[in-house]
Amino acid sequence: MNSVLVTGSKGQVGNELNELASEYQYNFLFTDRNSLDITNKQSIRNFIDMNNIDIIINCAAYTAVDKAESDKKQADAINHQSVKYLAQISKEKNIKLIHISTDYVFNGKNYKPYIESDFTAPSNIYGKSKLDGEKALQDINPKNSIIIRTSWIYSSFGSNFVKTMLRLGSEREELGVIFDQVGTPTYAKDLARTI
Ligand SMILES: NC(=O)c1ccc[n+]([C@@H]2O[C@H](COP(=O)([O-])OP(=O)(O)OC[C@H]3O[C@@H](n4cnc5c(N)ncnc54)[C@H](OP(=O)(O)O)[C@@H]3O)[C@@H](O)[C@H]2O)c1
Repeated sequence: MNSVLVTGSKGQVGNELNELASEYQYNFLFTDRNSLDITNKQSIRNFIDMNNIDIIINCAAYTAVDKAESDKKQADAINHQSVKYLAQISKEKNIKLIHISTDYVFNGKNYKPYIESDFTAPSNIYGKSKLDGEKALQDINPKNSIIIRTSWIYSSFGSNFVKTMLRLGSEREELGVIFDQVGTPTYAKDLARTI
């Protein structure tokens, strides 16, 4: 049976994968920041060697988009350098790597939906760190990896736009919300099943 390492499994997508895991014939190993910090290359290597991993699903990320502006180093360490480590180790050990990225790799100025080959031009630190992670993965291990760009994830886990709107909607008579952003909300369980 193939062994699958899931990183960042306490997040929205990681939690949904965990809920679905029993439906699939894989030996899933769910890790979080405490059990496997992906910024530590040696820890990744040790974990993979010890558990004979065949597939990695990287759900770990620095996702605080606004905070990243003043926390560039940490965003880069998690979204770029760590993806590089995962790519290097998965290439070396012939492991399939599934990595999640974001619509923030684009600048959002298109007036039509983006496709994969569209020009990337991140307009913030978070987007740049995610794009740098993508590029590292494509440079190092393009044949044995998959990058899934998603957007506006919501789920019953953690905090997200849908939960905030539901809460505010139950508390207030009227809501003032920006209306100049267009995107595709993605249910984390749908994404988890697709992965
Ligand atoms: N949320 C969105 O709307 C959205 C949109 C587009 C793309 N994405 C991408 O989709 C993926 C999953 O997003 P999500 O919403 O599930 O994110 P999330 O809920 O923020 O989960 C990310 C998880 O990664 C963990 N993590 C952070 N640094 C780590 C480290 N060094 N080692 C191990 N784990 C670490 C976090 O732990 P802590 O809580 O301890 O930090 C958290 O549990 C990410 O790649 C994200 O960039 C998300």
